[in-house]
Amino acid sequence: MDAQIKDIRLEYTDQGTGTPIVLLHAFPLNRTMWAPQIDSFSANFRTIAVDLRGHGGSSQGHTPYTLEDLATDIKDLLDHLTIQQAIFVGLSMGGYILMAFYRLYPDRVKSLVLADTRAQADTPEGRAGRFEMIRTAETQGANAIADIMIPRLLSARTIKTNPELVGKVRAMIIHNPVDTIVADLRAMAERSDSVPLLAQIARPTLVLVGELDHGTPPSDARLMAERIPDARLAILPAAAHVSNLEEPEAFNQSVLSFLESIDSNGVNQ
Ligand code: MLT
Repeated sequence: MDAQIKDIRLEYTDQGTGTPIVLLHAFPLNRTMWAPQIDSFSANFRTIAVDLRGHGGSSQGHTPYTLEDLATDIKDLLDHLTIQQAIFVGLSMGGYILMAFYRLYPDRVKSLVLADTRAQADTPEGRAGRFEMIRTAETQGANAIADIMIPRLLSARTIKTNPELVGKVRAMIIHNPVDTIVADLRAMAERSDSVPLLAQIARPTLVLVGELDHGTPPSDARLMAERIPDARLAILPAAAHVSNLEEPEAFNQSVLSFLESIDSNGVNQ
């Protein structure tokens, strides 16, 4: 499905009925990374997975953009679908966007799952690494970005034993235009520090992380879970950064049992 949102066309999957759950993908992937979650969640929820502007099937609109621009695209899509409030799941860059979204539109958020992400802004070294990657993208193209990103996204075991998944992740990366990869890197380098926001998140929250995630490790997840009031923390064994693809059953189970607990109790336990 697609929707014209101002100057861009956003492509999205909208499957199932019930409370809406919006899935925000990682850098530099697209909504197909959520295939195992769409299958599972859509049995009980209206599951919406969006290609962020410039990714997958969505058009690019203007560049550069900020993470707030990407958050506003999602808010506009919810307006288009006449959805007032949704559960949000954001993984990595999707988590950065979810924090920006909460800062701008807290009333639109029913509950949050922050997966394999962090609240801190980039360190100076982290930012320098982004600009180095921008140079690589501009001079060598998206395949070179895939070579760099795959070992950061997936565990060594997955890379060795699951060529099909590695191929899917590579295909998502190289399908994105270099301009999108560059714009994402700039937006992430310039993103604000969300640590001060954490104490203000007044919605049930699950913080989830793969135990082998080196990019946004369990220590980053702990920081978020400690500061967000009543947040729940889940650490998924054997998963690295894209934990929803590496350990889809554990990921889905963790999210669904969190949603069940807040549904039956009205509060996060
Ligand atoms: C992602 O998976 O979205 C990125 O690794 C996030 C980042 O580079 O900080």
